Amino acid sequence: MADTDTPVVAPAHFRVEIARSTTAFEVAPDQSILDAALRANAWIPHSCTQGTCGTCKLKVLSGTVDHADSPEYTLSLEERTDGLTLACRAVPTDDLVVEPLGATDDGVPHHPLRDYTAEVVELEDIAADTRRLVVELDSPMAFNAGQYCELIVPESGVARQYSMANPPDENRRLELHIKRTPGGLATDGWVFRSLKVGDRFTLKGPLGQFHLVNQCEETAVLIGGGTGLAPLKSIVRHALHLDLLPEIHLYHGGRRQVDLYDVEFFTALDREHPNFHYHPALSEEDWDGATGMVTDVVADDFATCKGMRAYLCGPPVMVAAAVKTLKRRRMSPRLILREEFTPAPPTTPSES
Ligand code: FES
Repeated sequence: MADTDTPVVAPAHFRVEIARSTTAFEVAPDQSILDAALRANAWIPHSCTQGTCGTCKLKVLSGTVDHADSPEYTLSLEERTDGLTLACRAVPTDDLVVEPLGATDDGVPHHPLRDYTAEVVELEDIAADTRRLVVELDSPMAFNAGQYCELIVPESGVARQYSMANPPDENRRLELHIKRTPGGLATDGWVFRSLKVGDRFTLKGPLGQFHLVNQCEETAVLIGGGTGLAPLKSIVRHALHLDLLPEIHLYHGGRRQVDLYDVEFFTALDREHPNFHYHPALSEEDWDGATGMVTDVVADDFATCKGMRAYLCGPPVMVAAAVKTLKRRRMSPRLILREEFTPAPPTTPSES
């Protein structure tokens, strides 16, 4: 029998203040600092939200944290001793005053993180082992072109990240491009196996600091590998709709023709908009378009990239090669914005 005289003590919430600002928010038990901050619309720079990129590092000026499962390769023991922590992993064990290492104002308005119920309205194969998933949300999600959301895989509770390919003005209907991972819990085990039109699940968003920088004077070079096309599609559609960029070159790389998708869509955009140029490229098959690694194709097309801005999204190897190429072509490093695919954290020893 329960002891009705024993008062129920609610688990402690802690207050986090961002140093040298008026920003403060509450963090619930077991909630990460980043999750609480973004839900309170307090911007902390971040990218992967999985503890692997280090973008969300904070200096803890007062108070204590539990670093939880922060990996040592992202947050060394020395950094922990110096008072650094990862906002996406750390849980406060005290009230805190913190200072983000990255810029808290990156020149765009940010939108609060929220949970949504999503209903599948379209699911189609668009390329080899690649599906387009379109979902209708129960309420609009405000986001910046280029950001991503996290799908919660039913029953497992595991989260997987996919960029929105739709522009921000289509804020209730999200388009996601999903590549199958052999043995993957979210893809082989769900999206490519049992998911169907009419199914409902939870997702949260928006997340990530990869986004279109509005009203730029620079020519934009967008380079995507595989489903790295998704955030670039959002950026292209948004920029063309609002006439935000003077000139846009979109490069999409795949190994074979079966890896490319939305070719007709972008070819039509190229015809309609004199300032938009679409360049698909294949690395392992001859065809009547460009052949070679997509970054080599970019290097062949531009003698110099000085004064241009780049948006890169794809596998880390492609992104690293693109950065090297663009720097060699004299693009300023601060104008190279990138989003890398991060491997899903293992859920069991055999799953990804
Ligand atoms: S390590 Fe926290 S966002 Fe990447």
